[in-house]
Amino acid sequence: MRLEPPEKVSREQITLDVREIEPLLQAPAMDLKPWPGAMITLKDGRTLYIREAKMEEAPMMLDYVGQVMKVEHDFYDIVGARVYAEILGWYRKRLKDPYTLVGLIDGVWAGFANGRLKNEDINISLHTMALMRGGRIGAVMYYAKAYYGFEILGNQEWWATYESYNGWWRWGIGMAQPSYPWPEYQHELGGARVYYITKKYWDAVVKDYARQIVGADLAFDVPDEVVKANEVLRVPDEVLV
Ligand SMILES: CC(C)(COP(=O)(O)OP(=O)(O)OC[C@H]1O[C@@H](n2cnc3c(N)ncnc32)[C@H](O)[C@@H]1OP(=O)(O)O)[C@@H](O)C(=O)NCCC(=O)NCCS
Repeated sequence: MRLEPPEKVSREQITLDVREIEPLLQAPAMDLKPWPGAMITLKDGRTLYIREAKMEEAPMMLDYVGQVMKVEHDFYDIVGARVYAEILGWYRKRLKDPYTLVGLIDGVWAGFANGRLKNEDINISLHTMALMRGGRIGAVMYYAKAYYGFEILGNQEWWATYESYNGWWRWGIGMAQPSYPWPEYQHELGGARVYYITKKYWDAVVKDYARQIVGADLAFDVPDEVVKANEVLRVPDEVLV
């Protein structure tokens, strides 16, 4: 757009350094407490270690999710494509206050869960993926990110939506989540219904979810050998879903 200036100006051109534009494109980050890392014993006895993804792991994660999003069943394609964009959004700093959790079994990437903070109170759940099936890994990954929101970040509400039957069944039904009136409230993932958990409902009911679904809870006192075994993320040799 161009308009003539309404007054004489001493400088007709103003040059911007992109470093001056970047603060406008990147939302100022909130000071989020980190996810401390936790482990849980799966029903088959394997240990799933859930930690924050490291920024330098993003290219490898993108490469693998690029393969997963070609899978045309159980909505791995649409969820994979969106997860790809979200990992890239985190990597390129185009998401407001994201958190990115990976679940690892002996260093191998088995589960994914992410979200972002709308503000101090509302945590927006983005996506969860089981990269290995049958171990209820996805169920636990989702629980871990909700635990992070309510127990570590002190959030008051959790907003989710569902793009797959398995997701809706696991958490919409599995956690008996109510939804806000639609279309008045729309989740940022495609404008679908907002399913929610309040802190009160979390404390009263949902906090027990992991125990009910895998018979164990998250353990934050993680032995050094478990941390060490999962320090370096490796992607599975092939797509396993
Ligand atoms: C939704 C999701 C994260 C749930 O993961 P999960 O809790 O680990 O559960 P799975 O989907 O692997 O399995 C669901 C059920 O089907 C069974 N199952 C499905 N596929 C299976 C397979 N290939 N091998 C073994 N079991 C399988 C599981 O045993 C499980 O049954 P259970 O409840 O008796 O244990 C996972 O289905 C997923 O990643 N889907 C694609 C992405 C997606 O939809 N994300 C959520 C968006 S809303």
